[in-house]
Amino acid sequence: MNMILNPAPSAPPTSMPNGTTRPQVRIVIVGHVDHGKSTLVGRLLHETGSLPEGKLEMLQAVSARRGMAFEWSFLLDALQTERDQGITIDTTQIRFRTNSRDIVLIDAPGHAEFLRNMITGASQADGAVLIIDALEGVRDQTRRHGYLLHLLGVKQVAVVVNKMDRVDFSAERFKAISDEFSAHLQVLGVTPTAVIPISARDGDGVAARTDRIGWYAGPTVVEALDRLEPARPLEALALRLPVQAIYKFDDRRIVAGRIESGSLSAGDEIVIMPAGKIARIKTVESWPETPIAGRQGAGRSVGITLDRELFVERGDTIAHTATGPRETRRLRARIFWLHDKELAKGDQILLRCGPKESRATVVAIEKAVDPGELASVENKAIGLNHVGEIDISLSNPIATDPYTENPRTGRLVIEVAGRIAGGGLVLSVDAGQRAVPVDIVPVESALRPDERSARYRHNGAVVWLTGLPAAGKSTLAKALERRLFTNGGSPILLDGDTLRAGLNGDLGFSAADRSENIRRLAEVATHLARNGHIAIVAAVSPAREDRAAARRIADTLFREIHIATPAEVCEGRDPKGHYKKARAGALASFTGIGNDYQRPEAAELTIDTSSRTVADATDEIERMLQQSGVLFDEVADLAANI
Ligand code: GTP
Ligand code: MG
Repeated sequence: MNMILNPAPSAPPTSMPNGTTRPQVRIVIVGHVDHGKSTLVGRLLHETGSLPEGKLEMLQAVSARRGMAFEWSFLLDALQTERDQGITIDTTQIRFRTNSRDIVLIDAPGHAEFLRNMITGASQADGAVLIIDALEGVRDQTRRHGYLLHLLGVKQVAVVVNKMDRVDFSAERFKAISDEFSAHLQVLGVTPTAVIPISARDGDGVAARTDRIGWYAGPTVVEALDRLEPARPLEALALRLPVQAIYKFDDRRIVAGRIESGSLSAGDEIVIMPAGKIARIKTVESWPETPIAGRQGAGRSVGITLDRELFVERGDTIAHTATGPRETRRLRARIFWLHDKELAKGDQILLRCGPKESRATVVAIEKAVDPGELASVENKAIGLNHVGEIDISLSNPIATDPYTENPRTGRLVIEVAGRIAGGGLVLSVDAGQRAVPVDIVPVESALRPDERSARYRHNGAVVWLTGLPAAGKSTLAKALERRLFTNGGSPILLDGDTLRAGLNGDLGFSAADRSENIRRLAEVATHLARNGHIAIVAAVSPAREDRAAARRIADTLFREIHIATPAEVCEGRDPKGHYKKARAGALASFTGIGNDYQRPEAAELTIDTSSRTVADATDEIERMLQQSGVLFDEVADLAANI
């Protein structure tokens, strides 16, 4: 069957990154030595009509002349030789087509190399074919590969039971292997997309269900590949532009880098991480000078200019303000260790995430596992070729994403003495957490969050009220506090002015002090929110950057409410008389910002207190908290209990 000759009736109409309308899927073929990987690949190339004209016949003739039995793996060897001699144009990656997919087979030369490539992001598979010899059955390496696919986050795995001709195409033998290995994958949380009986050598089950496997009703290998889902295109993910260099042309500063994911264009509002500075893209430059129009997507190398002078340096990451990465000094990662000397708790390492690097300390080692044995070996150290989950504390903040959100930026590499010693995936990012020395272990609450929320009928949250002085923040904050408390909740008011009298008493009104003031408010509020309380913060917090920093600290717990009372109304109220005047004066003289409140652009709620009652405004906040999952919905609860 020649798959190319069948036009794809179900091909999606949208254009794909590979320039066609066919989704591209990258796969890797793994399995125990000699179980038939190369044979299957040779077969697949043949069955899908992907071989150069005459190649197969030529190899068969050569084999016959030398008195050797023809092997399908010769095809790969031949392509490999041509590649080594630089003859073929592009065989670094073997490509073939099924009905509706362009398949790219990722070269997996050897075990260690494959892992190294996968974990350092040099290659990345959307799916995998795992091959098992029907006679030999599941072997160590089969299990190990299954486990590694799970570790690497490859969810789509087609299992192929090969060499069925050696077991007389026995349905029982097939079922036994299929059951054994499916159970193994199940434990790892992987459900095979298909388990297929084949003879790669003879062609059964590869592109056709032959009589010899007449008892089998599932998909062929080609059909299974045709059903693989491509990864979300990188362009559809959030913008990540790691800064590689800054060039000066005339008076322009051009920030250059390669777009790892997402897209950008002139006019976009961006944030530069980890500093958190905000700017707009003025122009997008193509090399070396002319500005280019339109959106530029993942994979493009671009230079951009910004609408204001900001300090940007190599290693920073540029993102859109609404979907920025999380700056962190703490992260959890799943790593594969490639170094002779084992990795132990307390070890000093160098951590690289994209272009950014930081010295780091291993705070804890959990689940160290030998992927061959699949047994937890210990949790003090990770040995050579073992896998583990570790907690890392960084000496400099790094902007990164969990691997599940962005497979491109959610990877890390660990170096020891200038050499790659391991690599892995970012599992979670503890936004805003400071680095802690190894001997300080944060003490957790005796109560679980769900115990508290069951009593309070709400989850923890940071409700951040920002707005001009005298806009009505404190009034509303107090009304909300009373309302939540009356309903049995646990609200706590953190008024900016109150905290300035104590915790923040050492801070003035310089830009740095204002940022620190907001940071402390956000840290305290987040701690309370993590413990199930609703922290209501009432603070002018005029700088958008500072509020963005607070949001990063509180992360998903953050709800911003803009008290958008017109300036004239605020002036008229002036409830704090001389105090406010003095403070406004101080703000203006130190920073010029007293007159320059930066309005939020994406607050969860905006309220103008000049046109409504306090009760009314409180209602509205309550509704927002309910809709955004903070307050439990009493009506829905009632309904569920009837
Ligand atoms: P490594 O690359 O060394 O790990 O091996 P591999 O998994 O690529 O195996 P390869 O394709 O080289 O096949 C190993 C041997 O198994 C060869 O002699 C093949 O001819 C034989 N073989 C592969 N598929 C089949 C099959 O379906 N039936 C039989 N009887 N032999 C097969
Ligand atoms: Mg091989």
